[in-house]
Amino acid sequence: MPKLLILYYSSFGHVEMMAHAIAEGVISAGAEADVRRVAETVPAEVAKAMHFKLEQTAPLADPADLAGYDGIIMGAPTRFGRMPTQMTAFWDQTGPLWMQGALVGKVGAAFTATASQHGGQETTLFSMLTNMMHHGMVLAGLPSTFQGQMGVDEIRGGSPYGPTTVTAGDGSRLPSPSELDGARFLGAHVARIAAKLAS
Ligand SMILES: Cc1cc2nc3c(=O)[nH]c(=O)nc-3n(C[C@H](O)[C@H](O)[C@H](O)COP(=O)(O)O)c2cc1C
Repeated sequence: MPKLLILYYSSFGHVEMMAHAIAEGVISAGAEADVRRVAETVPAEVAKAMHFKLEQTAPLADPADLAGYDGIIMGAPTRFGRMPTQMTAFWDQTGPLWMQGALVGKVGAAFTATASQHGGQETTLFSMLTNMMHHGMVLAGLPSTFQGQMGVDEIRGGSPYGPTTVTAGDGSRLPSPSELDGARFLGAHVARIAAKLAS
């Protein structure tokens, strides 16, 4: 049974919700899912003043743990069109893994959230996928067989590069049923690829 890591950072809880939906998808495909978050780097008083969601059930990830998974699905909200420093700080500690080639051949995928519909979802996804490519990982996106990413009848997150959600500037919009379905779809998709690679 493949074992997948859902590695995320979330200030306000939207990406956290997407992370748990991805885990549901992984489990639905018969694989094991660990949801882990990266450490906060913002000073505690600043995080509190900005109303960050400081209580999150997922344990903290350790960079050394990455080598123990068949695949890694990483998610973070956008910061000016790229991943936040909290997630960058985590990957900046993976040099030793890179030197050993410890992640080469594992499956990788990404997911994100932005406040506005065109606020940098695809560039943020690629800022995460780039790290995985440098580690020699095999990348998976959100195939068009997930039809929920099509259509303009409602606000729809999701792109061929990964599942996404749109939060609104004040964070009032939560991931929609369709966006959560996209997250579950990716989880199952990556789990099936990991199982094929392991066989
Ligand atoms: C410093 C900063 C920069 C941000 N930059 C953008 C941006 O470029 N585009 C955008 O749409 N949203 C931007 N946002 C909004 C966040 O992406 C949004 O709050 C996030 O997607 C919510 O996800 P979370 O609940 O998982 O933290 C920014 C937020 C902060 C605090």
